[in-house]
Amino acid sequence: MNAAEAWNGPLGRHWAAHAERYDAMLAPFDAALFEAAALGAADRVLDIGCGTGGTSRAAARLAPRGRVTGVDISEPLVERARALTDRARDGDVTFELGDAQVHPFEPGGFDLAISRGGVMFFADHVTAFRNIRRALRPAGRLVFVCPRPAPPDGGEREALARLASLTGGDHAVNTPVAEAMASLSDPDRTGAVLDSAGFEDISSKPVAAATRWGADAEDAADFFVSRSQGPPVPDATRAAIADVFRPYETPGGVLLGAGIWVVSARRPR
Ligand SMILES: C[S@@+](CC[C@H](N)C(=O)[O-])C[C@H]1O[C@@H](n2cnc3c(N)ncnc32)[C@H](O)[C@@H]1O
Repeated sequence: MNAAEAWNGPLGRHWAAHAERYDAMLAPFDAALFEAAALGAADRVLDIGCGTGGTSRAAARLAPRGRVTGVDISEPLVERARALTDRARDGDVTFELGDAQVHPFEPGGFDLAISRGGVMFFADHVTAFRNIRRALRPAGRLVFVCPRPAPPDGGEREALARLASLTGGDHAVNTPVAEAMASLSDPDRTGAVLDSAGFEDISSKPVAAATRWGADAEDAADFFVSRSQGPPVPDATRAAIADVFRPYETPGGVLLGAGIWVVSARRPR
């Protein structure tokens, strides 16, 4: 998959237009990400594949004397990140349009690199993580979250498979983007990649988490239908989609059990 094309096309525009929804969808991962990241108040933080910048702003709140740089390959997402960020309110947060695999980061310019699901789409993971390692100071840390294969009965996997069968192979599964999403789901492979890229102290911790798809089943169905790039979705299909989401309704919204890896590594001293 060409990440630049995918994230600058309809997918990226959909994320930009539904920034709050996607942020809420992935927000359940933040506690695990930021607990592992353990930001220092003066840290210089690089947020890789920052999207519309939710985690960049959160990092800036945790590092009030530091600075945060979000980098993303998607122009619509970087534009949206800038529009959503108010430096007077959010702190020292800036965004750069770039491919993290080859972006000329300031060598050793960061104490910490973080990512909430923005590191799975590289064409060459070793090259990309080498570039990120060079951006870290000696002993600087990398902490990211990425999808773990959900158990068969674990909500997201089952629901998305049923949704795909309803919508004739919606982009949520069985597509290059979905395949790339799973590219770091095997922790042994992730460890080998990071080792080849020159990191040490590599660990992957499984964390149970859920993605939030909407306030209720109807809302989640509307959102899911809005993601479809195919012909208009018939009302009966939309109703069936809502039925798939209904068992996952909770007081906190429609939550699909997903599961993530929290991966940590360190640049050698
Ligand atoms: C699943 S989204 C996550 C966005 C954001 N981290 C969040 O949590 O809201 C993946 C992001 O990675 C970005 N991305 C993919 N490949 C990239 C690359 N090579 N360099 C920089 N960003 C990339 C995409 O544009 C997209 O914004």
